[in-house]
Amino acid sequence: METLIQIGYLVALVCFVLGIKGMSHPDTARRGNWTLALGMGLATLVTLMQPGLGNLPLILISLGLGSWWGIRMSSKAQMTEMPQMVSLLNGFGGLAAALVALSEVVDMFYGDAMANLLMEVMGMGVLGQYYLLFYVVTLMISLAVGGISFTGSVMAMAKLDGKVSGQPLRFPMQGLVTNGLLVIMLVLTVAIATWPSYTLPLIVILMILSLVYGVLFVLPIGGADMPVVISFLNSLTGLTAATTGLLFDNRAMLMGGVLVGASGIYLTMLMCKAMNRTLGAVLLGQFNSGSGQAAREMSGQIKEIGLYDTAVLLAYSSRVVVVPGYGLAVAQAQHLVHELEKILAAKGAECKYAIHPVAGRMPGHMNVLLAEADVSYDLLVEMEAINPDFPLTDVVLVIGANDVVNPAAENDPGSPIYGMPILQVHQARNVIVIKRSMAAGYAGVENELFYDPKTRMLFGDAKAVLGDLIQAIKGL
Ligand code: TAP
Repeated sequence: METLIQIGYLVALVCFVLGIKGMSHPDTARRGNWTLALGMGLATLVTLMQPGLGNLPLILISLGLGSWWGIRMSSKAQMTEMPQMVSLLNGFGGLAAALVALSEVVDMFYGDAMANLLMEVMGMGVLGQYYLLFYVVTLMISLAVGGISFTGSVMAMAKLDGKVSGQPLRFPMQGLVTNGLLVIMLVLTVAIATWPSYTLPLIVILMILSLVYGVLFVLPIGGADMPVVISFLNSLTGLTAATTGLLFDNRAMLMGGVLVGASGIYLTMLMCKAMNRTLGAVLLGQFNSGSGQAAREMSGQIKEIGLYDTAVLLAYSSRVVVVPGYGLAVAQAQHLVHELEKILAAKGAECKYAIHPVAGRMPGHMNVLLAEADVSYDLLVEMEAINPDFPLTDVVLVIGANDVVNPAAENDPGSPIYGMPILQVHQARNVIVIKRSMAAGYAGVENELFYDPKTRMLFGDAKAVLGDLIQAIKGL
């Protein structure tokens, strides 16, 4: 049986690696997702086959309830709710790992875990002492990081969902309190590891502080800076799963956690690059600090354009770039934008999509959205690659994007998004912006682009406007 279980875990691991590889390209992403689900199912199954596993009915009831709720939640969720759902599920991953670590703490104080551990290290001398230290520290990391990941992710979900303001929420001496809390947690971990006989109250305090820290960590992060935090929380969940796997000598959990943690950290680096932030600034909560100057007042005239004029302009352009943003996802207009792109291509225009790494509300949001409408992956061009093309572009069609095209990020040191690389659409010959109103984007910053003499606004819901625009071009 033991060999069968180990083979099962090995196959699950291979599924994790192949699944993550599959997720790296839209053509293989669906298969990658199924491979990952298969790996997770297999890992769960072989864990249930462990000899001497107690409370089987309770475990099966929990599994059934969790699976029912997961299927119900994901089948009911709208595409626009995906970022919130991913955040919540990430938080549950952290919570699950922290609860497993907590069960070990309970077993240490009220069960046999401590006696078993002491038996294990008996006769190992200094090495045994180190092993004990390593064990307790790993346990505390699982508890604390899992707690931070849980409340942090729930907070991020609330911000993405609009239940908590997306703007940075600040209070006096916030940096001191938040970073002080982190230092206290580190000191507590050292204390718990050094004086094991007095630890239970300290462990409870550590747990509570980690839950509070998760909330305080995300609170001051607003608008444009959320992508970095979301991917960082992913990596924390991976880390806590890996340390818990280490504690229980469960290689599938350890390796699964390492894969999630490593890919989460890599994504965090990519997001930091996309936002022009450093990871140190993330950890110390130095977000949205700006330069202390006030953001610039907008001046100039807004110019509107009608459907017919837009249709004529697009129909007689040879180079068109579409900039999709969060509003395209809200309007669910991805199929219509693909139809428009095909019509323009049939008229001889070169039509591409400019993809900003943080457009939308989750990493790769625009890629997923456009892939759903079968837009060819070759037409999606990353920000660095497309920026030099804008001066040669006849028309840029900005659909439901705002922050990612705001020139204030380049030229207003007082703006909270200052320093973030943007799609330089203001360099194109004509810019048409489709959105419903003059409302600001997620960062809450007014957009200078809308006041640019080359920009014209086409107000309305993206789906309705694109539908009418397609009809107008067909009728020319
Ligand atoms: P945003 O700056 O959020 O702007 C979206 C725009 O879409 C809004 O100004 C809104 O204006 C418009 N809109 C909404 N519904 C619409 C509809 N039905 N039809 C037409 N327009 C509609 O989006 P973005 O440019 O994609 O930037 C993303 C922002 O979110 C960045 O600040 C980024 O840092 C942040 N963020 C990103 C992530 C990730 S990982 N991608 C995660 C969290 C936060 P109206 O209301 O006037 O229509």
